[in-house]
Amino acid sequence: MAVPIVRRRTAALAAGALVVASGAVAAALSTTSAEAATSGCSVNYSVTSQWDVGFGASVTITNTGSAISNWTLGWSFAGNQKVTQGWNATITQSGASVTAASLSYNGAVASGGTVNFGFNGSYSGSNAVPTSFTLNGVACGGTGTGSGGSTGGTTPPTTPPTTPPTTPPTTPPTTPPTTPPSSGARVDNPYVGAKGYVNPEWSAEASGDGGSSIANQSTAVWLDRIATIQGADGKMGLKAHLDEAVAQANGQPLTVEFVIYDLPGRDCAALASNGELSATDIDTYEHSYIDPIASIMSDPAYSKLRIVNIVEPDSLPNIVTNASGQAGATDACATMKANGNYEKGVGYALAKLGALSNTYNYIDAGHHAWLGWDSNFAPAAQEFLKAATSSGATVHDVQGFITNTANYSATVEPNFKVTDNVNGTSVRSSKWVDWNNYVDEQSYATALRSELVSVGFDSGIGMLIDTGRNGWGGSGRPTSAGATTSVDTYVDGGRIDRRVHAGNWCNQSGAGIGARPTAAPAAGLDAYVWIKPPGESDGSSQAISNDEGKGFDQMCDPTYGGNARNGNNPTGALANSPLAGHWFSAQFHQLVQNAYPPLS
Ligand code: BGC
Repeated sequence: MAVPIVRRRTAALAAGALVVASGAVAAALSTTSAEAATSGCSVNYSVTSQWDVGFGASVTITNTGSAISNWTLGWSFAGNQKVTQGWNATITQSGASVTAASLSYNGAVASGGTVNFGFNGSYSGSNAVPTSFTLNGVACGGTGTGSGGSTGGTTPPTTPPTTPPTTPPTTPPTTPPTTPPSSGARVDNPYVGAKGYVNPEWSAEASGDGGSSIANQSTAVWLDRIATIQGADGKMGLKAHLDEAVAQANGQPLTVEFVIYDLPGRDCAALASNGELSATDIDTYEHSYIDPIASIMSDPAYSKLRIVNIVEPDSLPNIVTNASGQAGATDACATMKANGNYEKGVGYALAKLGALSNTYNYIDAGHHAWLGWDSNFAPAAQEFLKAATSSGATVHDVQGFITNTANYSATVEPNFKVTDNVNGTSVRSSKWVDWNNYVDEQSYATALRSELVSVGFDSGIGMLIDTGRNGWGGSGRPTSAGATTSVDTYVDGGRIDRRVHAGNWCNQSGAGIGARPTAAPAAGLDAYVWIKPPGESDGSSQAISNDEGKGFDQMCDPTYGGNARNGNNPTGALANSPLAGHWFSAQFHQLVQNAYPPLS
């Protein structure tokens, strides 16, 4: 069977649409009067990444004239390039002509000084680099290059400034950057005081498919095959992302997230992301996957980035619950438990990546409806400890844990608590809760953190929660507890998580975008993060042949009746889904529609 082509969508921006740096409010371009009598500039316009319909660019202006206190750089595209998103400048486009204006914190540029901004764009045909620029209305000597070269600003401005430098700058260069320059030393919580990396490839997908309101959010980059380290299928590789992250950081702290996801015998209790390495291939994992990643991340060019590694979703939780003696056990998980390659691989990754001072390792810890039962909770902490002390790793190589990776469990269930009773009966006995000790991620993550510290992990560890797709908004969202007729009416009428069963995980119908990435949202939590990029499929709804290590899991088929791991319930999956990781437009639209908090 042929692999379906997932169409990339180009960003559809109306001519003249305003595109702004992350979080900034679009403002009409302020025309800046020409500056001091000695104007001059050179510009290095560098295409940092490029794929079939999109590209990223980094632009560095060198001020070869006298000091300026704000700037506007202008250029014209030769082709149909459209800026879709920018950072460190307010970028506006009208037809082919583009202007990038300074922000409050980077307007001042000394004589001989430089300033950098970046943007993502869409294009078709060729992506010629612009060759002439103006700075504050005056032509620059420099020209753009496609790959980082620059030319000197030796040509004097052809047009003398029309306005004498009598007008003081509208924004005096007194406002310091909101965050201090990055020092490069490991901090307690890497998310505090840092911006988040915007993956240009995801951003272009999102903004091209009706999601421009979230396209400037930070999402993780999944290294789900050895080939993704260099860049597979025309996509950016690890180095390209890190280079882009350095450009986006622009000297300030920035957090960039990678998912380490290629264990031998991966995804032993499911098939949708089965992986490329056989159960025994620990050698390839260590030396052809982890070693090259560690070597690239150790480049001094990246020493000031805060690199967050999400270590191996689902693997250790599967050893806890699906390896033997439990209803959902699989032979594949029993094999991985017996050969120890999950613990060895995770330990190796933690040790190798943990040896770098610019990395932060977070181990995947399932979610509340996986490990929240007494029978799984304490054993899970022991399993994590075992892995974190394998292959030379120590607990100090672990900065924290993440829950809900790529899952749909609510961060907080607002309308009922696990301690509630209905007519004297505990909600724990309801069908939905099924004797779990937790009903949502935040309570689970907080309790798990204490358990992990008690078994020997550092007391400073922090938890992350993947909130990309757990918002459960939209018109079906309950606003109060259910009727007190029974524990089931009470829980089912009030829960915002509207899955058929909490064991369902594939492309869930009715789900919405959750809380936006947020640093330190609660005690013990380092951040809410978007690890599974919203819009990317969890798995295909029918078998599709491929070379990406993706199998077909019936949990992604809406017509399947379920298995022991979801109480033999319907799967709640959306129909017609593509392979795991491929863009799933219908799901993305629903996620945007059902976002909570709603998107404006
Ligand atoms: C897939 C990966 C993909 C990731 C993010 C996983 O389920 O196996 O290939 O990169 O999701 O979408």
